[in-house]
Amino acid sequence: MNKENIIEVKDLRVKFPVTGGVFLGKVAEVKAVDGISFEIRKGETLGLVGESGCGKSTAGKAIINILKFSSPDVEISGEVWLNSDEGGIDLLKLKRNEMRKYRSMIQMIFQDPYSSLNARLNVGQIIEEPMLYHTSMQKKERKERISWLLEKVGLQAEQSKRYPHEFSGGQRQRIGIARSLATNPKLIIADEPVSALDVSIQAQVINLLQELQKEFDLSILFIAHDLSVVEHISSRIAVMYLGNIVEVGEGKEIYHHPKHPYSRALLSAVPLPNPDLRNKERIILKGDVPTPLNKPSGCGFRTRCPIVQPSCADAVPPLEEKTPGHFAACPFVS
Ligand SMILES: Nc1ncnc2c1ncn2[C@@H]1O[C@H](COP(=O)(O)OP(=O)(O)O)[C@@H](O)[C@H]1O
Ligand SMILES: [Mg+2]
Repeated sequence: MNKENIIEVKDLRVKFPVTGGVFLGKVAEVKAVDGISFEIRKGETLGLVGESGCGKSTAGKAIINILKFSSPDVEISGEVWLNSDEGGIDLLKLKRNEMRKYRSMIQMIFQDPYSSLNARLNVGQIIEEPMLYHTSMQKKERKERISWLLEKVGLQAEQSKRYPHEFSGGQRQRIGIARSLATNPKLIIADEPVSALDVSIQAQVINLLQELQKEFDLSILFIAHDLSVVEHISSRIAVMYLGNIVEVGEGKEIYHHPKHPYSRALLSAVPLPNPDLRNKERIILKGDVPTPLNKPSGCGFRTRCPIVQPSCADAVPPLEEKTPGHFAACPFVS
């Protein structure tokens, strides 16, 4: 794999079987992730954006390779290459015990700081857990690291004896961030880390992540359903629709010059401080997001697309490089 990349995802597909009938056989399948490829460069933040249900969390969990342990029936194919100390390794080929060694390199931050922290553990224990499971650090080293991490995220070392319910939402997400940094990871998968927080708190948490990214030399996959949230933090942005990446490129490019009709609609739907787009017509999409259970043939977006053509039903359009480094999966835009 390329030395500049921390992760390379190749044609990742995740299907959840739907069972039913008398014998509870497979009656259908949910194509949650339907063939996505991308890379995350060392030290960069890649924003992954799309509406609820388009497969963002499933993609994140597939990368950290926890899906097959939490959903035993899941069908996963493709490759997820991690640039480890021993060179490139395809995580999807690893068994659970083999994965342990690499889990210290990738950690996840979850959307809801209320439910993602174990309420019965105190803050010190919460931050200590990943060190216990994924490292060989001794007790003294772990304790010192807990205090150090709490201060890094803007809390106090003395707060390690307190419990999650004693903290505000923003503080709890700081605890989640401290926990994610405990094993000194190379990649953080932040799954809508600010969606559950008040707008006034969101910027503080995003700024903290950015500071820590520099200090810890982290790569971040930053998942969000709203383009405006990822614009500030992302070097590049990938836009997802119904299990596919429909557009990817430099953050500024995607934000100021979106090409795919879906990205254009996604951008026009939010009130933007961006003057280039503010006066543009709002694009209102027809219809609801189809479910990944009965995904349309060809381009997944064609049932709602304002510029749909008959040929869009034929095949899933590939990502084409429209301008240097800017890819869109639509043959009808330039
Ligand atoms: N464990 C699961 N079993 C069955 N279907 C699932 C499971 N996890 C997710 N899905 C389905 O996969 C699709 C993508 O879900 P998800 O990855 O959570 O989307 P997002 O994070 O973008 O909101 C949805 O239709 C969801 O219902
Ligand atoms: Mg999600």
